[in-house]
Amino acid sequence: MQYRQAIQLKDGRECILRSGTATDGQAAMDCFVLTHSQTDELFSYPDEIHLTPEKEARFLTERAESADELEILAEVDGRVVGLAGLDRIGRQAKVRHRVNFGISIDRAYWGLGIGRAMTKACIACAKEIGYAQVELEVVAENRRAIALYESEGFREYGRNPKGFRSRFTGWQEIVLMRLDLTEDENRERRYGRKRENGNGTAAHRRDPGNGSAGLF
Ligand SMILES: CC(C)(COP(=O)(O)OP(=O)(O)OC[C@H]1O[C@@H](n2cnc3c(N)ncnc32)[C@H](O)[C@@H]1OP(=O)(O)O)[C@@H](O)C(=O)NCCC(=O)NCCS
Repeated sequence: MQYRQAIQLKDGRECILRSGTATDGQAAMDCFVLTHSQTDELFSYPDEIHLTPEKEARFLTERAESADELEILAEVDGRVVGLAGLDRIGRQAKVRHRVNFGISIDRAYWGLGIGRAMTKACIACAKEIGYAQVELEVVAENRRAIALYESEGFREYGRNPKGFRSRFTGWQEIVLMRLDLTEDENRERRYGRKRENGNGTAAHRRDPGNGSAGLF
Protein backbone atom coordinates (compact mmCIF):
# COMPACT_ATOMS: atom_id res chain seq x y z
CA MET A 1 0.00 0.00 0.00
CA GLN A 2 1.25 3.49 -0.81
CA TYR A 3 1.34 6.23 1.81
CA ARG A 4 2.68 9.80 1.94
CA GLN A 5 2.15 12.59 4.44
CA ALA A 6 4.23 15.55 5.63
CA ILE A 7 3.99 16.44 9.32
CA GLN A 8 5.57 19.09 11.53
CA LEU A 9 7.50 17.79 14.52
CA LYS A 10 7.37 19.31 18.01
CA ASP A 11 10.75 21.00 17.34
CA GLY A 12 9.42 22.61 14.14
CA ARG A 13 11.20 20.33 11.68
CA GLU A 14 9.37 18.63 8.84
CA CYS A 15 9.03 14.85 8.80
CA ILE A 16 7.88 12.90 5.76
CA LEU A 17 5.98 9.67 6.38
CA ARG A 18 6.10 7.62 3.20
CA SER A 19 6.18 4.17 1.68
CA GLY A 20 9.64 2.90 0.83
CA THR A 21 11.15 2.36 -2.60
CA ALA A 22 13.94 0.09 -3.87
CA THR A 23 16.49 2.87 -3.22
CA ASP A 24 15.65 2.95 0.52
CA GLY A 25 16.99 -0.55 1.23
CA GLN A 26 20.25 0.48 2.94
CA ALA A 27 18.73 3.35 4.96
CA ALA A 28 15.76 1.31 6.16
CA MET A 29 17.99 -1.61 7.13
CA ASP A 30 20.36 0.72 9.03
CA CYS A 31 17.42 2.24 10.90
CA PHE A 32 16.01 -1.21 11.76
CA VAL A 33 19.36 -2.45 13.13
CA LEU A 34 20.02 0.81 15.00
CA THR A 35 16.65 0.84 16.77
CA HIS A 36 17.13 -2.78 17.80
CA SER A 37 20.46 -1.86 19.42
CA GLN A 38 18.92 1.02 21.40
CA THR A 39 16.29 -0.81 23.45
CA ASP A 40 15.78 -4.23 25.04
CA GLU A 41 12.04 -4.13 24.28
CA LEU A 42 11.98 -5.28 20.66
CA PHE A 43 11.67 -8.81 19.24
CA SER A 44 15.29 -9.41 18.22
CA TYR A 45 18.86 -8.39 18.96
CA PRO A 46 20.97 -6.75 16.20
CA ASP A 47 23.11 -9.90 15.80
CA GLU A 48 19.93 -11.89 15.07
CA ILE A 49 18.88 -9.63 12.20
CA HIS A 50 20.02 -11.14 8.91
CA LEU A 51 19.00 -8.43 6.46
CA THR A 52 20.83 -7.10 3.42
CA PRO A 53 20.08 -3.80 1.62
CA GLU A 54 18.81 -5.86 -1.34
CA LYS A 55 16.42 -7.93 0.82
CA GLU A 56 15.15 -4.79 2.52
CA ALA A 57 14.68 -3.05 -0.85
CA ARG A 58 12.62 -6.02 -2.07
CA PHE A 59 10.57 -5.99 1.14
CA LEU A 60 9.83 -2.25 0.79
CA THR A 61 8.85 -2.60 -2.87
CA GLU A 62 6.54 -5.54 -2.11
CA ARG A 63 4.93 -3.58 0.73
CA ALA A 64 4.39 -0.53 -1.49
CA GLU A 65 2.68 -2.74 -4.09
CA SER A 66 0.68 -4.80 -1.58
CA ALA A 67 -3.07 -4.34 -1.25
CA ASP A 68 -3.20 -5.38 2.42
CA GLU A 69 0.20 -4.74 4.00
CA LEU A 70 2.17 -1.58 4.63
CA GLU A 71 5.61 -0.27 5.60
CA ILE A 72 6.08 3.43 6.33
CA LEU A 73 9.42 5.21 6.71
CA ALA A 74 9.79 8.43 8.72
CA GLU A 75 12.30 10.76 7.08
CA VAL A 76 13.79 13.84 8.78
CA ASP A 77 16.43 16.02 7.06
CA GLY A 78 16.74 13.32 4.38
CA ARG A 79 17.48 10.57 6.95
CA VAL A 80 15.31 7.52 7.71
CA VAL A 81 14.69 7.70 11.49
CA GLY A 82 11.69 5.42 11.99
CA LEU A 83 9.80 2.45 10.59
CA ALA A 84 6.25 1.29 11.15
CA GLY A 85 4.04 -1.18 9.43
CA LEU A 86 1.11 -3.52 9.14
CA ASP A 87 1.60 -7.29 8.75
CA ARG A 88 -1.46 -9.39 8.00
CA ILE A 89 -2.10 -12.40 10.23
CA GLY A 90 -3.31 -14.50 7.29
CA ARG A 91 -5.59 -14.55 4.26
CA GLN A 92 -7.74 -17.42 5.57
CA ALA A 93 -11.42 -16.52 6.02
CA LYS A 94 -11.26 -16.80 9.82
CA VAL A 95 -8.35 -14.39 10.32
CA ARG A 96 -8.27 -12.01 7.39
CA HIS A 97 -9.91 -9.29 9.49
CA ARG A 98 -6.81 -9.12 11.74
CA VAL A 99 -3.51 -7.27 11.23
CA ASN A 100 -0.37 -6.79 13.34
CA PHE A 101 1.17 -3.39 13.93
CA GLY A 102 4.88 -2.72 14.58
CA ILE A 103 6.96 0.44 15.11
CA SER A 104 10.49 1.49 16.01
CA ILE A 105 12.04 4.95 16.01
CA ASP A 106 15.66 6.06 16.45
CA ARG A 107 16.04 7.09 20.11
CA ALA A 108 17.53 10.46 19.02
CA TYR A 109 14.09 11.30 17.59
CA TRP A 110 11.83 10.14 20.42
CA GLY A 111 9.37 12.59 21.94
CA LEU A 112 8.93 14.67 18.77
CA GLY A 113 5.56 13.27 17.72
CA ILE A 114 6.79 10.74 15.12
CA GLY A 115 5.48 7.71 17.03
CA ARG A 116 1.99 9.13 17.32
CA ALA A 117 1.89 10.25 13.68
CA MET A 118 3.07 6.84 12.42
CA THR A 119 0.59 5.05 14.68
CA LYS A 120 -2.26 7.18 13.39
CA ALA A 121 -1.12 6.65 9.79
CA CYS A 122 -1.09 2.85 10.20
CA ILE A 123 -4.53 2.84 11.86
CA ALA A 124 -5.93 4.96 9.04
CA CYS A 125 -4.46 2.56 6.46
CA ALA A 126 -5.78 -0.49 8.35
CA LYS A 127 -9.25 1.07 8.22
CA GLU A 128 -8.91 1.90 4.55
CA ILE A 129 -7.83 -1.65 3.72
CA GLY A 130 -10.86 -2.93 5.63
CA TYR A 131 -9.30 -4.67 8.64
CA ALA A 132 -11.58 -5.02 11.68
CA GLN A 133 -8.84 -5.38 14.30
CA VAL A 134 -5.28 -4.10 14.74
CA GLU A 135 -3.14 -6.11 17.16
CA LEU A 136 0.21 -5.65 18.86
CA GLU A 137 2.42 -7.04 21.60
CA VAL A 138 4.42 -4.79 23.90
CA VAL A 139 6.80 -5.38 26.82
CA ALA A 140 5.00 -4.45 30.04
CA GLU A 141 7.82 -2.10 31.13
CA ASN A 142 7.53 -0.10 27.88
CA ARG A 143 5.36 2.61 29.48
CA ARG A 144 6.06 5.11 26.69
CA ALA A 145 4.70 2.77 24.02
CA ILE A 146 1.74 1.59 26.13
CA ALA A 147 0.72 5.21 26.87
CA LEU A 148 0.78 5.93 23.14
CA TYR A 149 -1.25 2.84 22.23
CA GLU A 150 -3.87 3.40 24.93
CA SER A 151 -4.35 7.00 23.88
CA GLU A 152 -4.99 5.81 20.32
CA GLY A 153 -7.66 3.38 21.49
CA PHE A 154 -5.79 0.08 21.93
CA ARG A 155 -6.93 -2.02 24.89
CA GLU A 156 -5.14 -4.80 26.76
CA TYR A 157 -6.71 -8.24 26.33
CA GLY A 158 -4.12 -10.45 28.02
CA ARG A 159 -0.58 -10.96 29.25
CA ASN A 160 2.19 -13.48 28.69
CA PRO A 161 4.37 -13.43 31.83
CA LYS A 162 7.26 -15.19 30.07
CA GLY A 163 6.81 -13.68 26.62
CA PHE A 164 10.46 -12.63 26.18
CA ARG A 165 13.65 -13.78 27.82
CA SER A 166 16.02 -10.82 27.82
CA ARG A 167 19.75 -11.51 27.62
CA PHE A 168 20.20 -8.86 30.30
CA THR A 169 17.23 -8.95 32.67
CA GLY A 170 15.57 -12.36 32.29
CA TRP A 171 11.81 -12.81 31.79
CA GLN A 172 9.88 -9.92 30.26
CA GLU A 173 6.10 -9.86 30.50
CA ILE A 174 4.30 -9.16 27.22
CA VAL A 175 1.04 -7.20 27.10
CA LEU A 176 -1.35 -8.17 24.28
CA MET A 177 -3.32 -5.22 22.92
CA ARG A 178 -6.01 -4.81 20.29
CA LEU A 179 -7.79 -1.93 18.59
CA ASP A 180 -11.32 -2.69 17.42
CA LEU A 181 -11.91 -0.74 14.21
CA THR A 182 -15.57 -1.71 14.04
CA GLU A 183 -16.49 0.14 17.24
CA ASP A 184 -17.00 3.45 15.40
CA GLU A 185 -19.33 1.76 12.93
CA ASN A 186 -21.23 0.05 15.76
CA ARG A 187 -21.59 3.36 17.61
CA GLU A 188 -22.82 5.06 14.44
CA ARG A 189 -25.33 2.29 13.86
CA ARG A 190 -26.57 2.47 17.46
CA TYR A 191 -26.91 6.23 17.63
CA GLY A 192 -27.90 6.90 14.02
CA ARG A 193 -24.82 9.00 13.13
CA LYS A 194 -25.05 7.77 9.56
CA ARG A 195 -28.16 9.87 9.05
CA GLU A 196 -26.08 12.98 9.87
CA ASN A 197 -24.07 12.30 6.71
CA GLY A 198 -27.22 13.17 4.80
CA ASN A 199 -27.39 10.16 2.53
CA GLY A 200 -27.26 7.26 4.95
CA THR A 201 -23.90 6.01 3.71
CA ALA A 202 -20.89 5.56 5.96
CA ALA A 203 -18.11 8.15 5.76
CA HIS A 204 -15.00 7.25 3.75
CA ARG A 205 -12.89 4.73 5.70
CA ARG A 206 -9.74 6.88 5.65
CA ASP A 207 -9.52 9.03 8.76
CA PRO A 208 -6.30 11.04 8.92
CA GLY A 209 -7.00 11.65 12.62
CA ASN A 210 -6.43 8.02 13.47
CA GLY A 211 -3.44 5.70 13.15
CA SER A 212 -1.49 2.53 14.97
CA ALA A 213 2.05 0.09 15.90
CA GLY A 214 3.96 -3.16 18.05
CA LEU A 215 6.88 -5.44 18.47
CA PHE A 216 9.14 -5.69 15.47
C1 LIG B 1 7.39 3.87 21.56
C2 LIG B 1 7.82 4.84 20.48
C3 LIG B 1 7.36 4.32 19.12
C4 LIG B 1 7.19 6.22 20.72
O1 LIG B 1 7.60 7.07 19.67
P1 LIG B 1 7.82 8.65 19.91
O2 LIG B 1 8.14 9.24 18.58
O3 LIG B 1 8.79 8.87 21.01
O4 LIG B 1 6.35 9.06 20.36
P2 LIG B 1 5.70 10.51 20.38
O5 LIG B 1 6.75 11.56 20.48
O6 LIG B 1 4.75 10.60 19.24
O7 LIG B 1 4.89 10.43 21.73
C5 LIG B 1 3.75 9.60 21.78
C6 LIG B 1 3.29 9.41 23.17
O8 LIG B 1 4.18 8.59 23.91
C7 LIG B 1 4.00 8.91 25.30
N1 LIG B 1 5.28 9.33 25.83
C8 LIG B 1 6.24 10.05 25.24
N2 LIG B 1 7.28 10.21 26.06
C9 LIG B 1 6.96 9.55 27.19
C10 LIG B 1 7.61 9.32 28.42
N3 LIG B 1 8.84 9.79 28.66
N4 LIG B 1 6.98 8.57 29.35
C11 LIG B 1 5.75 8.07 29.13
N5 LIG B 1 5.08 8.26 27.99
C12 LIG B 1 5.68 8.99 27.04
C13 LIG B 1 3.04 10.06 25.38
O9 LIG B 1 1.75 9.51 25.56
C14 LIG B 1 3.19 10.65 24.00
O10 LIG B 1 2.07 11.37 23.59
P3 LIG B 1 1.95 12.98 23.80
O11 LIG B 1 3.32 13.56 23.72
O12 LIG B 1 1.06 13.37 22.68
O13 LIG B 1 1.37 13.09 25.16
C15 LIG B 1 9.37 5.03 20.49
O14 LIG B 1 9.75 5.41 21.80
C16 LIG B 1 10.16 3.81 20.07
O15 LIG B 1 10.36 3.57 18.89
N6 LIG B 1 10.63 3.04 21.06
C17 LIG B 1 11.52 1.91 20.80
C18 LIG B 1 10.86 0.80 20.05
C19 LIG B 1 9.59 0.36 20.72
O16 LIG B 1 9.51 0.29 21.93
N7 LIG B 1 8.60 0.09 19.87
C20 LIG B 1 7.32 -0.38 20.32
C21 LIG B 1 7.37 -1.85 20.50
S1 LIG B 1 5.78 -2.48 21.00
